[in-house]
Formats: sequence, C-alpha cells, structure tokens
Amino acid sequence: MAGRVHFSVQRNGLLFLSPSSSSLFHSSINFGVKNGITFGPKRLPRTALYCNCAASNGLQKEMRSEPPFVLTTPLYYVNAPPHMGSAYTTIAADAIARFQRLLGKKVIFITGTDEHGEKIATAAAASGSSPSEHCDVVSQAYKELWKDLDIAYDKFIRTTESKHEAIVKEFYSKVLASGDIYRADYEGLYCVNCEEYKDEKELLDNNCCPMHLKPCVSRKEDNYFFALSKYQKRLEETLEKNPGFVQPSYRLHEVEGWIKGGLRDFSISRAAVDWGITVPSDTDQTIYVWFDALLGYISALSEDKEHSDLQSAISSGWPASLHLIGKDILRFHAVYWPAMLMSAGLDLPKMVFGHGFLTKDGMKMGKSLGNTIDPKCLVDRFESDAVRYFFLREVELGNDGDYSEERFINIINANLANTIGNLLNRTLGLIKKNCNSTLPVDSAVAAEGNAFKESVEDLVAKARTQYENLAISSACEAVLDIGNAGNLYINERAPWSLLKQGGDAFEAATKDLVMILEAMRIIAIALSPITPSLCLRIYEQLGYTEEQFNAATWNETKWGGMKSGQVMAQPRPVFARIEVQKEEEDVPEVAKKVSKKKTKIPKVQAVAEA
Ligand code: MSP
Repeated sequence: MAGRVHFSVQRNGLLFLSPSSSSLFHSSINFGVKNGITFGPKRLPRTALYCNCAASNGLQKEMRSEPPFVLTTPLYYVNAPPHMGSAYTTIAADAIARFQRLLGKKVIFITGTDEHGEKIATAAAASGSSPSEHCDVVSQAYKELWKDLDIAYDKFIRTTESKHEAIVKEFYSKVLASGDIYRADYEGLYCVNCEEYKDEKELLDNNCCPMHLKPCVSRKEDNYFFALSKYQKRLEETLEKNPGFVQPSYRLHEVEGWIKGGLRDFSISRAAVDWGITVPSDTDQTIYVWFDALLGYISALSEDKEHSDLQSAISSGWPASLHLIGKDILRFHAVYWPAMLMSAGLDLPKMVFGHGFLTKDGMKMGKSLGNTIDPKCLVDRFESDAVRYFFLREVELGNDGDYSEERFINIINANLANTIGNLLNRTLGLIKKNCNSTLPVDSAVAAEGNAFKESVEDLVAKARTQYENLAISSACEAVLDIGNAGNLYINERAPWSLLKQGGDAFEAATKDLVMILEAMRIIAIALSPITPSLCLRIYEQLGYTEEQFNAATWNETKWGGMKSGQVMAQPRPVFARIEVQKEEEDVPEVAKKVSKKKTKIPKVQAVAEA
C-alpha cells in the first residue's frame, strides 16, 4: 500500500485522538457419482440446522453457554465467475465448519460476495450490464457453485445489501470519531486487480503487478485516509502476545516484517469510483472497497435484513474465530483489519489463516491470468466428493499446490474407489453371503484383544488432532490410513478362506468382517467433513438412516458403535473408479474423454488458455 504519497494534509479539523481502547482477543484459539451410478436424489448438505442434531445428543447446554465458532471465507469479487482457486478456500472452510459441528459446536459459517469498486464496475460495463445486474448474476453463480460443492454455509453476505451499507457507515463514523480519518492528496501506482496502491519496490518491469502481471496505473486523488501508522505499536504488541493470531507460523513472520518495516496510512475513499458506498460526510467520494468488504464479516452476522446496526450484529457472534483467506490478502486481514477494529473499539478476530495458492504451471490460478479451472466442470465430471477430497488431500492447507488431471484421477481411484469403496463392498458381499447381511456379534466383542482396534483408535485420535490444527490434508491421511489398515488386515486374515472352513474359523472370520465394517463406520464419520455425500452412502450401506448420519458427532468415532443384529443394506458400490479411455496418441491431456462405468462423458475444456 505504501507508495509515493504526497500528503498535503487537510485534516479537516479532525484531530488524532487516541483510539478508544479495544479489548484484544483473549487467547489464540487452539483448534487446538455420478460415476455412472445413481445414488438417489442429492442430499441436502448439513447446515446450521445440523446443530440441532447435536442438541438432540445432549449437547444443547454446551452450545448455549459456549460462544459460537464463527468462520469466514473471503468475500469473493464478482468481476468474473468463480474458479477453482476461489472454490478452494470455501471447500477448506466447509470442511473446518463441518468438523466443528461434529464436535458439537454451534457454528456460524460465513461466506459471500464483494460487489463494489472499480474492478466490478469495469467488469459490468464490459458485459453490457448495470453493476447491480452484473452482481446479481455472478453472486448467484457463487451460490450455485456452493450448492454443487456441498458447501453448508450459514450466512451469505453481499456487500450491496442495505444492512451491510448501514453497518459500513456506522463503522466509518466510529473510526472518524476516534480521530483516525483525515483528508489528503494521494499519488501512487494502483493495481485495479488487487484494488490496491502498490509500492514501486514490489513491482516488476514496466510497473507490472507481480500477481496479475499487468501494469499498474498512476493515480492522483484527494482522498480520506485511515491513520494506520497510529496502530503500529498496538499491532506489534498484539502479535507478540498472541503469536497464534496469524497462521501458519511462517506467515506470521511475514506480517511482523510488514509492521516492523513501518506502517503507512492508507486511503479509504475513492473520488473517481461511483460504484460503492458513499462516504457519510462527503457524497462525492465512495468508501474504498477493502474498507467496505472487510465489514461484511460483521454485517453477515446481523439477523435483520434491512435495519441493522453494528451492536446487534456484533452481539450475534463477533469476534470471528477464524478468517480463512489466501496468502495474497494477508496484509488486509492481519494488519489493516485489526487496526480498523481497534479504532472502532471492537474485538479482533481470534485467528487469520493464510492458505497457499492453487497453481497452474507454477503461476497462481486466477481470473486475471485466465489460467483457471472451472470447478463446475470438475464437479460434473467427477462429483463434488472427489473434487473436495482431491484438493484437501493433495494440498496441505498453507502450501501451494498444482493441479494435474492425471494425479486427480490416480488419487481418487486409489483412495476413494479402492481403499474405501472396494473394501466396504467386498466386506458387505461376504457378510451378505455368509451372515444374511446381519452382524452376528457386537463390534466391541469382535475386537476384544485385537490390535486392529487399537490402530484404528490411534488413527482417529490423530485425525482429530490434525483437524484441530487445520492440517486438513494430514487429517485425510490419518482417516485413509484406517482404510489402509483395514485392507492390510483383511488381506492377511483372508476371511473368504476361513469362512469356507466352518466352525471356529468361520466365527473368527465373521468377527474380522464386523471389525472392518466398524472401521468403515468410523471412517464415515471422520471423513464426513471432507466427503459428506460419500460418507452418507457408506453410513447407509451399514444400515443406518440419513437422520442417524446427520445426528452423528465425533464422539461416535469411538470403537463399538455397531451391534449384533444390525442389518446391512444391499451391497452397492459407494464410489466407482474413474475409467480413462485411451485416446489416439496425439489427443491433448485436457481433451481426453473420461468416463466412469462406460458412461461417455463429453469432452471438458478443463483448463482455459492463459
Ligand atoms: N474480494 C477480496 C476479498 C475480500 S474479503 C473481505 C478478494 N476476492 S478474490 O475473489 O480475488 O479472492 C478471494 C479468495 O480467493 C482469496 O483468498 C484468494 O486468495 C483466493 N484465491 C483466488 N485464487 C486463488 C488460487 N489460485 N488459489 C487459492 N486461492 C486463491 O480478494
């Protein structure tokens, strides 16, 4: 944000008063197929209603007294339809939200769209529509994608909603009253795609933005400024006292570096942009899109559609427990936003987690570079569970990760179709044939003295810790290892041979099968934050209802849930392998036809040309 700022400060009579003291956050939180097969109508994802299920499990008291777990994704720009990079944050946030609900927490999962500013106005003009029509269309595309991806959000905020505007104006007035807004001339290099003034030092040749590879434009404006520099010391202290505020820890160092390097005040209004919320005291200017959008995290909490006020929104759940964002917008969330909140006398969020980028050929996948993958195409071809699983398993949250179709297919086939799907299916086949699909013994009895049970218990405990630490890929790995252990166990024991021997061998084999099914039940709960639809199908195969699946909590990952007499459903594959039809040699990778169970699936242009 720094730049060639020439302050001809006209402080408009506003004094720099010391900001009203904001209570700092208390402690850093320690979170610690279609596939050619018809699976019936698409189930509703678990939503906030899901919390009622936890309540019915005796957790109601805990949920009432504990503050909610408030989790946010960034509010997405509506300059273009969503791509896989934007979907990534939301999928990860959804997995975290689902995990927290499994723990019995009341969760408020917030997402939405960022609809003001120059970039959006330009995109609307290019599409020949008014900004508000354009925003309606793209915002709706986000909502539809979230449905396709089984995203169970609780609140969707659009920054063009009137309740949001009211809260932005009230917040602006509070910051003004703190003496933190003044008027000055500004001259600098602006990246419209970042919606940010840039420091010349960070730019490439020809003043190109390193993220968007487009030249920044020179701007000179008379703007209102936010006195960020005043908060330098308090921000430093905040990070010192709460090192967990910025995660992963290597991003904290980056933030500390920015702050130590000196904070410059930044302009929070635009004279030349009409598409925005007008500055309360000056209708010739609109509020800078970032100042506006960050407040969406608070206005989303407001229950009232029309007449919301800051206090009532705050009392509905602020401060947020976690802002999950991409690393490119860390400075806004870990420096500007806390300072703005301090100025307004509001609590800070408890944690900001900056994840890495999905890349294509090493470059950030993005709308501006045009090297995106359309998540809808992926969902249409492979189903939402596969898309969710691949990106969460393949890319550890925090790191960058490259997409490759070959790797996608290999991982999905190996983990979901083979390790989980195949193990379940063949075990159910043996139970059907030999026990009339009815469990002959309790899983607790079947596992007495058996080390397999202990390894499952260890792995599920490990998965929980990994989820709590937001190490989602490692959590997936631990759950998958339960499946690996199951495959190893069944292959060693070869119950299909023991069953033929009759007598004690038969009995021992049926116990082995019950243990595998118990492990499958545990997988279905522990992997449900990642692959909710697949896990429901597993649960149903084990003879449970959808209601029982929705009511399950993490407590039920304890060994011993499956009892003698439980009747399994008719065995049906829960996840079919993705079959790649070999094409003529010179057909490019992206144009390969992919079919499942011999269903021909139309060619998909997975990767747009850069
Ligand atoms: N509108 C702002 C956020 C305001 S929050 C109050 C914005 N929008 S964005 O649409 O450009 O980006 C939204 C999120 O998508 C960011 O967290 C960004 O990091 C993420 N991603 C966009 N492309 C991405 C990848 N290629 N990979 C992973 N995430 C990336 O910034």
